[in-house]
Amino acid sequence: MTTPSSAIAVTGLRKSFSTHVVLDGIDLDVPEGTVFALLGPNGAGKTTTVQILSTLLAADGGELRIAGHDPTRHPDRVRAAIGVTGQFSAVDNLLTGEENLRLMAHLRHLGRRAARDRVTELLDRFDLVDAARKLVSTYSGGMRRRLDLAMTLVGEPRIIFLDEPTTGLDPRSRRTMWRIVRDLVADGVTIFLTTQYLEEADQLANRIAVLDGGRLVAEGTADELKRMIPGGHVRLRFADLFLLDAAARRLVGSVRDDDALALQVPTDGSVRDLRALLARLDGESIEVDTLSVHTPDLDDVFLALTGQAKQEQETVR
Ligand SMILES: Nc1ncnc2c1ncn2[C@@H]1O[C@H](COP(=O)(O)OP(=O)(O)OP(=O)(O)O)[C@@H](O)[C@H]1O
Ligand SMILES: [Mg+2]
Repeated sequence: MTTPSSAIAVTGLRKSFSTHVVLDGIDLDVPEGTVFALLGPNGAGKTTTVQILSTLLAADGGELRIAGHDPTRHPDRVRAAIGVTGQFSAVDNLLTGEENLRLMAHLRHLGRRAARDRVTELLDRFDLVDAARKLVSTYSGGMRRRLDLAMTLVGEPRIIFLDEPTTGLDPRSRRTMWRIVRDLVADGVTIFLTTQYLEEADQLANRIAVLDGGRLVAEGTADELKRMIPGGHVRLRFADLFLLDAAARRLVGSVRDDDALALQVPTDGSVRDLRALLARLDGESIEVDTLSVHTPDLDDVFLALTGQAKQEQETVR
C-alpha cells in the first residue's frame, strides 16, 4: 500500500518578532499534487509562514520538511525543489519581460539552448509574447503577476508558494491565474497559496486552513469549513405586515425584518426542508411573495472564525 507523501509537513512551527508572537505552534500537512490555501486577516502571519517554509526566514521552533528536506539543515535542497512568488512582485522593472526570464534561467544554471527554449515556452504559455521585448515598467498589474509566476516556473519546481497571487487583478486575469494553477496541479505540482479571496480558496484548494491569533483556528475542505458554522437560512418576503406577522408567529426561530417585510428562517438548505416550510405556510393560507436561499459561504466562515479574540476583548472592556 502506498500513502501519498507530503510535499510540506510542519509540526509545532513557532515564530516571534521580539515580543510579538506571530506563529504559536502551527501544524500543516500538504500532500503532493494538491493545493493548500492559507487564509487569515491582515497581519495574521501568512507571509511569515511562506517565508519560513521557503527558507527566506528562520523559524524559532518546530519540525519542518519541505520536499522531504529540513530547511534549516539543507536550505539548498529545499530551494532546488521549490519556487516562490512573493506578495510583492520580484520582477526587475528596468528589464524587459524576456530579459527577466533569461536572467532567471541563468540563475537556475540552464544551458544557453535550454534557457532559450524555456523562455520562449513560458512567454507563450503566459500570453506575454507581444510584451516580451517591452520594459516591465510599462506592464499592467496583471501582466506583471503573470511574468512573476513565469519566473518562478523557470526552474520547474515541484512545490510552488504563491503569496496572494491574484491580489489587485481584475476578474478575468484572476481566472487566467486560476487556470494556470490548475494546469500546474494537473502536472503533479503542489501549490501552497495564501489569499484574501475566499472564493479563490473555494475554487482552487483541496484543503484550507484559517490562521488567526498565531494559531490555525480551522482546517478542512471548503465544505467542511462551511458546515462548521451556522447561517443557512431562507429569506421570505411578504406583501404586507399582516402576512409577515402571521408567518412569524408560526415559524419558531425566525427573525423578522419589518422594514423589508421579510422573515429569515433557519434551514439546512435541503429541498425537503424548503418544501415542508412552504407547505406549512400554504396550509395556513399565508402567501409568500419571494423567497431566497442563503447558504453559508467562506466569507461567513472567515468572519465567524477570525477576530474572535479581539471581539472578546472589546466585550470585556
Ligand atoms: N521582519 C519583521 N519584523 C518585525 N515584525 C514583522 C516582520 N515581518 C512581519 N512582522 C509582523 O508579523 C505579523 C505577521 O505579518 P505577515 O506579513 O506574516 O502577515 P500576513 O498574514 O501576510 O498579512 P497580510 O494579509 O497583510 O499580507 C505582523 O504583525 C507584522 O507586522
Ligand atoms: Mg502577507
